[in-house]
Amino acid sequence: MLVGLTYDLRDDYLKEGFTEDETAEFDRVDTIIAIESTLQSLGYETDRIGNVKDLVKRLSMGERWDIVFNICEGLYGIGRESQVPALLDAYKIPYTFSDPMVLALTLHKGMTKHVVRDLGLATPDFYVVNLESDIDRIDLPYPLFAKPLAEGTGKGINADSKINNINELRNICKGLLTKYKQPVLVETFLSGREFTVAIVGTENSARSLGVMEVVLKSGAEADVYSYVNKENCEELVVYSMADGGIRQKCEELALNSWRGLGCRDAGRVDIRMDKNGVPHFIEVNPLAGIHPEHSDLPIICNKTGIPYKDLIYWIMESAKKRM
Ligand SMILES: Nc1ncnc2c1ncn2[C@@H]1O[C@H](COP(=O)(O)OP(=O)(O)OP(=O)(O)O)[C@@H](O)[C@H]1O
Ligand SMILES: [Mg+2]
Repeated sequence: MLVGLTYDLRDDYLKEGFTEDETAEFDRVDTIIAIESTLQSLGYETDRIGNVKDLVKRLSMGERWDIVFNICEGLYGIGRESQVPALLDAYKIPYTFSDPMVLALTLHKGMTKHVVRDLGLATPDFYVVNLESDIDRIDLPYPLFAKPLAEGTGKGINADSKINNINELRNICKGLLTKYKQPVLVETFLSGREFTVAIVGTENSARSLGVMEVVLKSGAEADVYSYVNKENCEELVVYSMADGGIRQKCEELALNSWRGLGCRDAGRVDIRMDKNGVPHFIEVNPLAGIHPEHSDLPIICNKTGIPYKDLIYWIMESAKKRM
């Protein structure tokens, strides 16, 4: 079976002059090599396609694949993660991970929270700031938390993201609006413990592979699992597997969110507790990083003794049900 690989390679974009921050979500070549060699060891034939523009060229030359392993995040627009799946749908080529609707929805953290809240699941109260003039309309109690509406990998998130008063709120929102040229999500700050839940499978077959607590060390940027803390996780973060009642509560919230939003094959749900120890949905990652050692999803697998090969196998088995 021929598996095409679609991905955004960070080095390609850095060569074109894009900055570290602009390319933060993109993949390193070792991730592509890991996926490719694992697929080969599972008996698949592989073909590197590249990003959406490479895919357009290859499709227009008449090339086809039995299935595509897609981890493209894209560059522009709220549909940036949906572009490759939408193109593949047009050619009736099956692919791994979620469909265009889910990838566009979940990239928009505000719209996602509307749906999650409508599912009856806990998520902090929030306000989407589209324009500077929206800031004065926010009537949520402090402390608050502000982040770009549609980014990942901790982009735009640092110790200043926790906001204690209206002056900080104005400054941070203005800064984020200017820098990221997209709305800002402002929500109630969750002061409790933080977890991320690894999920494989789709709908009723979805299951948790484990719940990992993210504990920041004393030298880390305080209070938040920020870009800097993620990039330097080996020195700044301790990861430990949760169990017992906490694990169960986080798994329930994560699986209900995953199934309710219609996410597929594998990914992660990020959760944080409020001051009363109640877990809240922060965000879902239907295209979670899958670097074998550096990304949270494979880190959870490593900690629970699940080989990387099994993770890739399960992703393919889940996706192949749509062939
Ligand atoms: N409401 C909140 N209260 C407290 N901390 C928050 C809140 N929202 C986000 N955070 C902190 O910011 C971090 C990053 O937020 P979020 O997961 O939305 O960003 P991301 O960049 O999409 O992450 P990822 O790398 O998982 O894609 C969280 O892991 C958490 O530490
Ligand atoms: Mg996150």
